[in-house]
Amino acid sequence: MPGRIVLGTQFGDEGKGKITDYCAESASMIVRFQGGNNAGHTVKIGEEVYKFHLLPSGVLRPEKLAVIGNGLVVDPIVLLQEVNDLKERGFKVDNLRISDRAQVIMPYHKIIDGLEEQAKGKMAAGTTMRGIGPCYTDKVARWGIRIVDLIDEEVLKAKLTSIVPMKQKIIQAFGGTEHLDAEAIWSEYAGYGRQIRDYVLDASVLINAALKSDEEVLFEGAQGTHLCIDFGIYPFGTSSNCTAGAALTGAGVGPGKIQKVVGVTKAYTSRVGTGPFPTELDDEVGEGMREKGGEFGTTTGRPRRCGWLDLVMVGHSARINALTSLAVTKIDVLGGMDKIKVCTEYEYDGGIIRDFPANMRILSQCKPIYKEFDGWDDKTDEGWTEAAQMGYDLLPEDMKTYLNFMEQELEVPVGIVSVGPARAQTIIKGQF
Ligand code: IMP
Repeated sequence: MPGRIVLGTQFGDEGKGKITDYCAESASMIVRFQGGNNAGHTVKIGEEVYKFHLLPSGVLRPEKLAVIGNGLVVDPIVLLQEVNDLKERGFKVDNLRISDRAQVIMPYHKIIDGLEEQAKGKMAAGTTMRGIGPCYTDKVARWGIRIVDLIDEEVLKAKLTSIVPMKQKIIQAFGGTEHLDAEAIWSEYAGYGRQIRDYVLDASVLINAALKSDEEVLFEGAQGTHLCIDFGIYPFGTSSNCTAGAALTGAGVGPGKIQKVVGVTKAYTSRVGTGPFPTELDDEVGEGMREKGGEFGTTTGRPRRCGWLDLVMVGHSARINALTSLAVTKIDVLGGMDKIKVCTEYEYDGGIIRDFPANMRILSQCKPIYKEFDGWDDKTDEGWTEAAQMGYDLLPEDMKTYLNFMEQELEVPVGIVSVGPARAQTIIKGQF
């Protein structure tokens, strides 16, 4: 049975929550492998809408294990809040497991996130202010507090005694006025440790045992390839690796265990945060996508910047992640448009660019070259549900032309087409 990765091929917000939930059907375990509560996953089951920032979306399926891998940065306040919210909605949440090696977001990380953003000026990424970057910084600098430390009160105290005075100096150096009290932080966070300790274990042992027993394991990506710390729009992305490779290091499995990599791709592009965005539409067409697609950040509520699908961008993701299939989402949002454009290459300085540039100055000057397609009629929400039930072959011909073009350009087959947020608004075209 396969290890299957589901990840985003754009700037995050591709609709991974729904696709992950769909793929979770056949898996015995769902594992998040990177990021933290900067993510925002929305899952709609019947009339109930669930929004998560940290918990793997598989937590909604009590018969499956939902695992927070070592690659995450975990804010225990958010973790406990999400667990308690679910308990109030009738879930037991006894299927949650947390890697002892995951990092902990501490109060000073959140303070420093804000101070650094202010200090960075034009280099600011427009972060979610959740302390993600400073926590990953500490992980790499070996100042981090791991979950295993959080549940060991003595170790936690010893580490905080060394770390807090240093963080205080950093806050002051940035002009911050917040005062850190090591004793108070210790007592608060040791309390969180006591509340989560029953969920904690060596997650890689659990995950590898499942794979060895031929069970299907689903690795749930957060953010998107173009926010990846290595392959994204540096320095405007996030601080973790968001690519298929991160599923291995962020969960503790070897490459031979992964058979499928599903690239979730929105039928257009959106971005919350700063940085170059070649196909951005600063007009009523982009505004229409934002309104109709509900393109407002799940985590921060900020309006997302919107634009046409960019296959230079998605091609970069197809290559880096060795995608085995595409899950195309929110294609219903494009319904009712007369013409739909897709960017196939960039024009820069009189030449043509086909590979996504690393240089942000060049990227910001790239002009998209578009191929234009005829649009298709719009439908009501029920109309799209009916269309989904009738299957791929009966979808509007112009929509199929658009999807076929994506497949040909990217050399990756489309496995799933999503025409709305509900599970029933999902069409299976091929293997995924
Ligand atoms: P951070 O991850 O909070 O450090 O934010 C860094 C950048 O990534 C900002 O531009 C955020 O808006 C963006 N970002 C982080 N997480 C997500 C996500 O889940 N979806 C979309 N954008 C995100």
